[in-house]
Amino acid sequence: MARPRNIVILTGAGISAESGLATFRGPGGLWEAHRVEDVCTPEALARDAALVHRFYDARRAALATVRPNAAHEALARLDREWPGELAIVTQNVDDLHERAGARRLIHMHGALRSALCAACGAQRGWDGPMPPGLACASCGAAALRPDIVFFGEMPYAMERIEQAVAEADLFVSIGTSGAVYPAAGFVQLASQCGAATLELNLERSAGSPWFDDTRLGPASVLVPAWVAEMLAP
Ligand code: APR
Repeated sequence: MARPRNIVILTGAGISAESGLATFRGPGGLWEAHRVEDVCTPEALARDAALVHRFYDARRAALATVRPNAAHEALARLDREWPGELAIVTQNVDDLHERAGARRLIHMHGALRSALCAACGAQRGWDGPMPPGLACASCGAAALRPDIVFFGEMPYAMERIEQAVAEADLFVSIGTSGAVYPAAGFVQLASQCGAATLELNLERSAGSPWFDDTRLGPASVLVPAWVAEMLAP
């Protein structure tokens, strides 16, 4: 393939697994210990805000105990050194991409270290616990919630993401099961628009049949090797 110019990278929980953060599906996954319906839907927030806030407080607290791994560091290096267009679209809500130094980063499912006002839509940085019913600094409503995109809600930046995917020469998926749309559909859009597609994952995923190439293994091994290939003179 001719050298790509525009790259879109989609990451999922698998890129943070070797940093010690649980994935969602598979052994020890978050959705084994919690029902999505109880902690990751607008109905859950309306029914039991304290439970939802406690779930995200615990995941936010865990960020202090982990650090970026070699895969996050490699993507940050690619972000710094890649001369063409590049977008890292992450489904993850951890801050490991930022802490590794990534800049051209889009959190499509929100971020643990952000609070959202359910009344006016204002977002603000947040650390530590977030009790339900805190007042929004912008509008005063007692409506601060975790800035997490719940099932049934629209992910962030979809137009910007879909345009980047449609214009990409290369679409790379890292550490995602391909179980959740719209992210799971990006590879098909990329393919239809003529991009080459590559999957880097520990095991075959629901998306694997759509990829031109799938490399299996841990992200901390596959991603640095791929970035080195991309930056080789
Ligand atoms: N290296 C590479 N891939 C890994 C590793 C690793 N060390 N460990 C696990 N994986 C892979 C698994 O094989 C799996 O395919 O990462 C993927 C993780 O899949 P999920 O747990 O389903 O996480 P993800 O795909 O990010 O989930 C998507 O679902 O619940 C929602 O909003 C949530 O953003 C999340 C979305």
